Amino acid sequence: MMDNALIRRFEDQRLPRYTSYPTAPHFSAAIGEGEAKAWLQALDPAATLSLYLHVPFCRALCWYCGCHTQVPGHDAPVERYVGALEREIDQVASLLPAPMRVVHLHWGGGTPTIIGAERLRRVMGAIRRRFDIAAEAELAIEIDPRRFDPAMAAALQAERFTRASLGVQSFDPAVQQAINRHQSFAQTERAVDLLRGAGVAGINLDLLYGLPHQSVAACRETVTQALGLAPDRLAVFGYAHVPAMKRHQQRIDATSLPGAGERHTQAEAIAATLGEAGYAAIGLDHFARPGDALARALAEGRLRRNFQGYTADPAAALVGFGASAISALPQGYLQNTPRIVPYGDAVASGRLAVARGLALDADDRLRRDIIDRLMCDLAVDLGAVAARHGADADFIAERRALGDLARQGVVRLSGDRVEIVEDCRMLARAVAAVFDTRLAPAEGRHAAAI
Ligand SMILES: C[S@@+](CC[C@H](N)C(=O)[O-])C[C@H]1O[C@@H](n2cnc3c(N)ncnc32)[C@H](O)[C@@H]1O
Repeated sequence: MMDNALIRRFEDQRLPRYTSYPTAPHFSAAIGEGEAKAWLQALDPAATLSLYLHVPFCRALCWYCGCHTQVPGHDAPVERYVGALEREIDQVASLLPAPMRVVHLHWGGGTPTIIGAERLRRVMGAIRRRFDIAAEAELAIEIDPRRFDPAMAAALQAERFTRASLGVQSFDPAVQQAINRHQSFAQTERAVDLLRGAGVAGINLDLLYGLPHQSVAACRETVTQALGLAPDRLAVFGYAHVPAMKRHQQRIDATSLPGAGERHTQAEAIAATLGEAGYAAIGLDHFARPGDALARALAEGRLRRNFQGYTADPAAALVGFGASAISALPQGYLQNTPRIVPYGDAVASGRLAVARGLALDADDRLRRDIIDRLMCDLAVDLGAVAARHGADADFIAERRALGDLARQGVVRLSGDRVEIVEDCRMLARAVAAVFDTRLAPAEGRHAAAI
């Protein structure tokens, strides 16, 4: 366990989760449709692709939610949005040098299943017409267990989905009341049974700690119940309270939130329970059964980080569809406009919906590689990474900052090798931040480091 002095030292830091480097707040409107077209056209036709589809709708808003979503008043915006997704798939595909091979596909949200079985199949049909989905591809979708039905399970089966991520957060009624998300264990169990019955064998569960009124005992109770569902993977996130960015979080009483020390104890209690049950810790916040593809990727140095968290996805490029979706291409990042109406208008008028992005330079690529290794392996060999990039590994200011972290017991240094101490796994973002040249002090839009 980290000691209290260490927790106090880091508790006020606001740090990115480094799902990309440079991080999304640094994307700029200087990168737009022109770059997007050129970058898509320049993709190697033999390279593999990962696709992400974003559905920014939910039936009701959970007050903790930090995702890009909204509650539609009626069905028309959903229908219009799905039509835009189909058109965007055609537009993007027509820019590609060939019908490219897809090895990974992820539907995220929001609650992607809100569109219903028939529309999900329509969009999957649009993808299959324009892309070559590999037989071994991972097809994944985020599920709200409260709103999952046999019709959607049948659609996932027909489309050969392989993995589902179910939002659980907490089974504690007091916590559920405080976050406006009432979800019984029975509802969750039924969704898992429906998924497995439909051949969706990979089951991920999302849990949160640091929620209002959440206690260590409640965390243990939730994770024990979750284990009863025998998930393959769990994501255990610390609740990110950013009410200035997400106004609905203002409905959460900040005085009911656990402090940094308590959050840390909750995270440790969940991790210990999962460890005792045989799950391997993956990076900052994931856990997997030892034989799971994520655990194997970690063991073999192939673990990667993307906008959904940790992944074994081997694709060379990620193409995002939908409002706010991000693409990660060899030349840099592209992000669609986050607003649903302008997104639909852009696509309807035959334009790409790209609103901003970032072209990677050599220094970004070097730092991204270092940050990825730290976030995935909790260790990096600076000399080896620099050599891969044809760069020198001086890092004078960074080594000084790492020296401070070593004196605080957060990292171990030996030559070019930086290793995050196991008990300080939760501080991986603080170590990664040493290499982030764009990090403005107290950026405010990020969540606490612990
Ligand atoms: C994009 S959400 C989709 C979940 C799905 N709509 C559902 O209802 O279960 C994916 C996950 O992000 C996590 N998440 C959402 N808001 C968060 C926040 N403010 N802090 C940390 N994690 C959060 C939750 O664990 C959630 O299950």
